[in-house]
Amino acid sequence: QSGIITLDPGYKNTGSCESAITYLDGEKGILRYRGYTIEELAEKADFLEVAYLLIFGELPTRDQLDKFHEDIKDQSVVDEDMKKILDSFPKSAHPMGVLASLTSALIAFNPSSVNVSSEEEMYRAIVKLMAKFPVLVAWTLRKKEGMPLDYGDDALGYVENIAKMMFKKPNKEYRKNDVVINALDKLLILHADHEQNCSTSTVRIVGSSHAGLFASISAGISALWGPLHGGANQAVIEMLEGIKADGGDTKKYMAKAKDKNDPFRLMGFGHRVYKNFDPRARIIKKAADEVLGDLGVTDPVLGIAKGLEKEALEDQYFVDRKLYPNVDFYSGIIYRALGIPTEMFTVMFALGRLPGWIAQWREMRLRNEPIGRPRQVYVGENKRTFIDIDKR
Ligand code: SDX
Repeated sequence: QSGIITLDPGYKNTGSCESAITYLDGEKGILRYRGYTIEELAEKADFLEVAYLLIFGELPTRDQLDKFHEDIKDQSVVDEDMKKILDSFPKSAHPMGVLASLTSALIAFNPSSVNVSSEEEMYRAIVKLMAKFPVLVAWTLRKKEGMPLDYGDDALGYVENIAKMMFKKPNKEYRKNDVVINALDKLLILHADHEQNCSTSTVRIVGSSHAGLFASISAGISALWGPLHGGANQAVIEMLEGIKADGGDTKKYMAKAKDKNDPFRLMGFGHRVYKNFDPRARIIKKAADEVLGDLGVTDPVLGIAKGLEKEALEDQYFVDRKLYPNVDFYSGIIYRALGIPTEMFTVMFALGRLPGWIAQWREMRLRNEPIGRPRQVYVGENKRTFIDIDKR
């Protein structure tokens, strides 16, 4: 069980560790955070409550949640000099690169967050990051859009404040029952943790060298950026828009996805663990219809997405390879309906994943796990003798 590195036949090293945070069953499509099903949490909890659950292991009482939120509010100011770093980026910079850089730069303004060993010191670093990360996300969006930066309003709830800092309507009151807030809450919860995925494993292995929480999260952001991982949500919309521009010919793209000589893959399909269905995709697909309906938005790519899904679920190639829609297939459609630019979709994934990354980092540090050091199967040359360059 714990600490065993199992090498599957393809030598795809599937590193393993012990964790008490998230449980996945890929065959049955089960996802639970600290024992609670993703379906219940997405329906009944809010994002800050789920963040508390993931990080500290229990659903908070009202007082515990209020104190957590108050501690976060006390840390919500980001040093004014951080803006100089933000301003040094060209508008064309990809927001994931900006966010990874700003998160790493936060270390310089919060040096006490690096060498943490006690739970209290870890708590202070966690609260700082939970407070400042959404500001960096909002700044990244507003920089891209050429909008003035918004400092938020501590009188608002956690997700309401994120909405205020991000979206263009600074004078719009964001309330708990607002369609936008409920959609954001649900999306952030659905992305909050997912056991030892690529970016979380990155956070754990960087954290295992005691490089500090902010450095570990910055590394996780870079890992999430890739189109095979969190970057897929941006790639899905770009793919769907390409199919729409090409006359909506989904059969042509299904054929491309099956053609071994064609590098095209159906983005948003397939998963390392889910070999049945991704429970998050089911919830997001239902939410996409609800949110677009509530906002009175019609999006032609939603129809293309549903057509692709139907074709893929009936296609032997996809059935044989157990390829189903994953969390990224429908999420971009909701982000777009909320007015979030495509290049910001993976940043939204990072915002949701933050509490999961923090929880996994905290668990690894509290368990005093040794520095990560994956091993390999050596398949290179045997011992050989050096040859002078003039004799080669
Ligand atoms: C996330 O790990 C996590 O939990 C990640 C995540 C999280 O919450 O952190 O769930 C978030 O990253 C979701 C995945 C987002 N990525 C994409 O949607 C990109 C498209 N999907 C693929 O690239 C792929 O499915 C992966 C990367 C997700 C999984 O890759 P695997 O398990 O290594 O699968 P594989 O590459 O070994 O492929 C197995 C077969 C191959 O065909 P054969 O060689 O057996 O003939 O399935 C084919 C692949 O060619 N295949 C696809 C495909 N995905 C796999 N063919 C067409 N389209 C696809 N999307």
